[in-house]
Amino acid sequence: MLNIVVCVSGGGTNLQAIIDGVKSGTIRNTKIAGVISNNAGAFALKRAENNGIPAFCISPKSFQSRAEFNDAFLEKLNELNPDLIVLAGFLVILPEKMIENYRDKIINIHPSLIPSFCGTGFYGLKVHEEALKRGVKVTGATVHYVDEGTDTGRIIKQRAVEVQQGDTPEILQKRVMEQAEWVILPQAIDEIAAGHQ
Ligand code: GAR
Repeated sequence: MLNIVVCVSGGGTNLQAIIDGVKSGTIRNTKIAGVISNNAGAFALKRAENNGIPAFCISPKSFQSRAEFNDAFLEKLNELNPDLIVLAGFLVILPEKMIENYRDKIINIHPSLIPSFCGTGFYGLKVHEEALKRGVKVTGATVHYVDEGTDTGRIIKQRAVEVQQGDTPEILQKRVMEQAEWVILPQAIDEIAAGHQ
């Protein structure tokens, strides 16, 4: 059984796709041990609670220094004893120690086809704004392992999505989520649980 911890910051639609996948059996041999948010107002925490999943908020605002926040965050992670950490819209820079301690055990979903529209400053709606500005006709999403760089780790899965005439960043974001993110993130977890990644 693959024990996963999902880290979130916002709405948690990717978390929901994971919860649904575990429930329906499209993600096999996997248990969600807990959800950690850095943001007390994240709807993702409600989604976890509604599904009986232990949910924790560890906010940098509650600590005097970044180092103290990092320690508390790592302590909670270690307590949950994950085989895999899934960053599902988690907008916090990871403590270096976490990357060292969980090497090849952290994955992230990014809303573009890496190496396009990724790296520092590219997150959430911003990614889609930049894609539209550049005028690309195809975008998509990527699941990748996390290393010390920003969006530089080994790519696990990608899925392309067409940009359509009249798209706004919000419309494109929704299409990328529905057609790519909510599909490839559950698939990646299932494949890792099966030992195929
Ligand atoms: C998702 O689109 C995810 O790909 C993106 O944040 C959104 C979170 O939505 N992540 C990044 O931009 C990471 N660089 P959600 O909370 O509804 O899953």
